[in-house]
Amino acid sequence: MTSTQPLRFLTGITTTGTPHLGNYVGAIRPTVQASKRAGTENFYFLADYHALIKCDEPARIQRSTMEIAACWLAAGLDPEHVYFYRQSDIPEIPELTWLLTCVTGKGLLNRAHAYKAAMDRNAAAGAEQDDGVTAGLFMYPVLMAADIVMFNAHKVPVGRDQVQHIEMTRDMASSFNHLYGEHFTLPEAVIDDAVALLPGLDGRKMSKSYDNVIALFAPPETIRRQIAGIVTDSRAPGEPKETEGSALFQIYQAFASEEETAALRKAYAEGIGWGDAKQLLFERIDREIAPMRERYQALMDNPAELEKILLSGAAKARARATPFMAELRHAVGLRSLASAPAEKKQKVAKATSASFKQYVEEDGNFHFKVLDPEGATLYLSPAFESGRDAGKVVAFLKKKDLAELREFLAALQKSAATAAGLLDTASNAGN
Ligand code: TRP
Repeated sequence: MTSTQPLRFLTGITTTGTPHLGNYVGAIRPTVQASKRAGTENFYFLADYHALIKCDEPARIQRSTMEIAACWLAAGLDPEHVYFYRQSDIPEIPELTWLLTCVTGKGLLNRAHAYKAAMDRNAAAGAEQDDGVTAGLFMYPVLMAADIVMFNAHKVPVGRDQVQHIEMTRDMASSFNHLYGEHFTLPEAVIDDAVALLPGLDGRKMSKSYDNVIALFAPPETIRRQIAGIVTDSRAPGEPKETEGSALFQIYQAFASEEETAALRKAYAEGIGWGDAKQLLFERIDREIAPMRERYQALMDNPAELEKILLSGAAKARARATPFMAELRHAVGLRSLASAPAEKKQKVAKATSASFKQYVEEDGNFHFKVLDPEGATLYLSPAFESGRDAGKVVAFLKKKDLAELREFLAALQKSAATAAGLLDTASNAGN
């Protein structure tokens, strides 16, 4: 890789849910900001094949794909400037998944956290080890590796829970490179600790599975109601409050400038009431989200436009994926037969070419003769004192095809060439 090559960033979001504040702060906002850096190429996609592993409700997958796409765009992602696409619009990805599958040890996949967690749950429940585990769940890391190496990403921004998948991607990519040549860049995970963890209403990580999320583009009243539900301690207004461990404070901090955060810290110390603090939080979030809400709603009301944006993103991504996949297919031997090297023909040449016989006369001199394909003598050489010299001349003559040889030997005959003369000719020809 040369230093002039752009650094490629790639990340995907699984399309199973409605984006919430945690997704916005942890994934969407940072990727939109990052996409504006000079000297980078950014690949952001909707991981809808991954969604199938977790979700068998078609309507929900479609809905979530729309919401996440609209959310990314409303947050300011410029589809002209980045590669923004839906995974299932890129057929090269499942194709590459298969090539990677064939170089991936089953044992590697056995060690994946998500798979092991499923087995542990089964063990705890006294069930069969693989109960309820689909081959899709087992293969999840391979599909993810294909997402990443399809575009030879250098950097993959992910949550901490995904780091193992990036390590597995490196394993798969290096196995492939080892077998078939250096086709893949080995990617690295990028974890931004500052944004990775937004607490939810109950103080645990904000996650749909904990049912503790704050909606992103819900009507403001809904968001206000959810914020009112943030768990606080029982200190009354006027009592100084701890910022440490306060989910409300941490969420505020994820939106506020340093000065705003300092101001709230001061207000905590001075005993701001929880109701007032929640009002401040609502206003601060709304200030950031409100301008995007309109664009979000416009996109959600116009699915055809969203679809057009995604399809044009897919065309742009495939302009890279298709030729790369062709290279990979060739590398593994999935090749056009028309370009196959012809099998080496048997040396049937004997019948169509001259033969050479070397021999020693009684006087100890070396000679050779040349026979035509039918065995008739074409030429009898003069005497050579050295067998090596005679051999050199023979080697020289053997390079000529039959017609050329006939002509050349006829000329020799005519000029009654001497051994020294022949040797000169052969030596000058590079023998
Ligand atoms: N597995 C990721 C998650 O659940 C989503 C994802 C799919 C992804 N493919 C990816 C992230 C490729 C980064 C790169 O968060």
